Amino acid sequence: MKGVVLAGGAGSRLRPITFAMSKQLVPVANQPILFYGLYDLAEAGITDVAIIISPETGQEIRDAVGDGSRFGIKPEFILQDSPDGLAHALQLAMPFADGDSVLMYLGDNLVRQGVADVVGDFEEHQPNAQILLAEVPNPSAFGVAQLDAEGHVYQLLEKPDNPPTNLALVGVYLFDNTVQQALDAIEPSDRGELEITDAIQYMIDSGSRVRASMIGGWWKDTGKKEDLLHASELVLESLRTSLKGQVIDCRLRGEIQVGVGSKLVDCDVIGPVVIGSNVEIERSTIGPNTTIGDGCRITDAVVRKSILMKEVELTQWRLTDSLVGRRASIGGSAPPAFVELTLGERSEIIG
Ligand code: G1P
Repeated sequence: MKGVVLAGGAGSRLRPITFAMSKQLVPVANQPILFYGLYDLAEAGITDVAIIISPETGQEIRDAVGDGSRFGIKPEFILQDSPDGLAHALQLAMPFADGDSVLMYLGDNLVRQGVADVVGDFEEHQPNAQILLAEVPNPSAFGVAQLDAEGHVYQLLEKPDNPPTNLALVGVYLFDNTVQQALDAIEPSDRGELEITDAIQYMIDSGSRVRASMIGGWWKDTGKKEDLLHASELVLESLRTSLKGQVIDCRLRGEIQVGVGSKLVDCDVIGPVVIGSNVEIERSTIGPNTTIGDGCRITDAVVRKSILMKEVELTQWRLTDSLVGRRASIGGSAPPAFVELTLGERSEIIG
């Protein structure tokens, strides 16, 4: 089986963060979201992986993944010139698949349990396609599945206004090579994209065996800030303490990681918290559920339930539920209450 990881797309729901960076490289617990998927594929024994990139952020993805050795995969980068849909991306990867089965993984998805189990299930039952489903409170934001009494999927609808069920399609799909006929047959949807949902529906309608299984463990599509912060909280649940930097006169509670070369002085840190390397923090309260990127400088501030990317400078302000882009700077006289921010790369706020 080969892997196809989608790492293109505009990331419009994460702007302004994604004006300057790819949504798949936004860090969760200081590791790009995309990396979790690549490790999942390697763990499932899938080492040949096509990574679909866009012209805007492709180079950044190539640089981040490199030769793939840190994950144990061999990446091949395939350019998708325009955002023409998930099925179009898979179509581009079909020559790479070269007749093998494929596992397509959306690079902004996080799957707690990995994909080894579903690969095993696919190999055991040998359907033409296998989808994963999760119960969600907001199904109209996703592809939605309807199952019959025996649990067979008979209808898939992409982001329906009136979802018939709360069963969302997870961004992990497995196909044998018969998917090619479906990819050739479908037409662009109303939003002008070749939808993977339509390709699977075509397979169902033409008598292919499409297997659906419920996902075990949590799953997150990190397309929006709230989802990203929630994903971060879920990942941080399994954090284990590791203090590699200096921690001086601080009060620590819960699981905390502090990276090499970092220095915390007179701080309250309430885990789970991940602090990267070469970070300096003084007289501040950090956490819970917070990630501070490498090279940040924080003084006299409070940060909780937030992600600060690399080299952010923060003084005085109290942030909650915030996502702050690389090299942003926040300071000056602070508002009296906690502030929720989404701040793009190199932005500056001077109160
Ligand atoms: C895509 C698919 C949708 C699926 C979702 C999972 O939507 O079109 O069917 O449920 O991924 O993350 P997108 O988030 O790209 O709009």
